[in-house]
Amino acid sequence: MTVDPETVERWRARLAQDAWQRSDTIFAWLANEAFALRPIALRHPLLFYLGHLPAFAYNQIARGVLGDPALDEAFDQLFARGIDPESESDAPTLSSWPALDEVVRYRDRARAAVLERVPRILAKSDDVLCARGRVLSLVIEHELMHHETLMYLLAQCPEGTARPSGLRLGKEGGGRRARPVEVAPGSVRLGAAFDEVDFGWDNEFGDETRSVERFWLDDLPVRNQDWLDYMGRYPTTAQAPLTPASWVRSGDAWAVRTIVGPVSMERASGWPVQVSGTQARAYCEHMGGRLATEAELHHAARAREGRDAYAEPALVGWSALSPDAVGSAPSSASAFGVEELIGNGWEWTSTVFAPRQGFTPWARTYPGYSADFFDGAHDVVFGASWATDTLLLRPSFRNWYRRDYPYAFTSFRVAYDRAPR
Ligand SMILES: [Fe+2]
Repeated sequence: MTVDPETVERWRARLAQDAWQRSDTIFAWLANEAFALRPIALRHPLLFYLGHLPAFAYNQIARGVLGDPALDEAFDQLFARGIDPESESDAPTLSSWPALDEVVRYRDRARAAVLERVPRILAKSDDVLCARGRVLSLVIEHELMHHETLMYLLAQCPEGTARPSGLRLGKEGGGRRARPVEVAPGSVRLGAAFDEVDFGWDNEFGDETRSVERFWLDDLPVRNQDWLDYMGRYPTTAQAPLTPASWVRSGDAWAVRTIVGPVSMERASGWPVQVSGTQARAYCEHMGGRLATEAELHHAARAREGRDAYAEPALVGWSALSPDAVGSAPSSASAFGVEELIGNGWEWTSTVFAPRQGFTPWARTYPGYSADFFDGAHDVVFGASWATDTLLLRPSFRNWYRRDYPYAFTSFRVAYDRAPR
């Protein structure tokens, strides 16, 4: 099949502009020495991501779909996949990583090799991975998701590691305290049919309708200030497991980590608190509530009752480098008056990450994308954060983390079975 040159150029431009441009911007924020940092022991050092993004693209497109030979066998393998071990002691450690300039050269070769193969990919229209350019979307979305990974890694780095220019932090201050609102019962459609979207990850498919009972939901997420008040109810000696990984001691007060360094609690008190799913569950129980399910949050986020369209997102897509104080996006209110369900931070749900009915790992080049995480230890998070690209905001898109993982941009809000007093 011959491929229209304009289509080829459009895909090449998308790879370069949608994915690679921001990767280059992010890595340009770092001094050479910073690439050796490993701010989270459960993840590889920053250098890994510089090699991983191009290796993944080459491995998927050239080796995976087209069956081409290795670009560089050692690097293709070394940078093939990230890690998500259960504990720090299970995390693999490499005694030495390649030099930065070798990885940069590998990246440039891999990108050129990928661009060169775009016409061959588009010509294989009888291959599910090539039709509608799916493997190209897979590579682009993978890179966009890693931009967010890089941001929460940078937030754990020493102050001054990242020097972004031209971007500001989100709105500061105390925000507004959440109020519980009633969410009327209804039914909600989860997932999508395969042909309904140009591209979706394997976990998005399998069309399911769920009914949601009446419940109550806080109209806003829990703030840093709310969490500080909650911790204060426990003796100091019991506070260590309650402390968010996003907080850092600054003299005798707490500060909140951002990618440009810690910000005083006074400035960050209204941002959604960033905690693990386990921490979020404990808070909800303490408040006499619970986490909402994935289906409940989908239902509560609708723009109008009985319709599939979602309310407007709050802060997403890199319009700031931190969350906004909660309550800054009244235009995100859903049909039920629930604000900020999409944007301003992913939100923990009580739903264990599991396949939808009829799940198949349709991308034969990446069969473990979701299946490797159907282990009962990972929970679904709903919505999006400031570091989530707007391309990922389709209703069927799913994200998940290990329940105990405290480092991602994950916040939460409280749900109740009965009207809270
Ligand atoms: Fe990856």
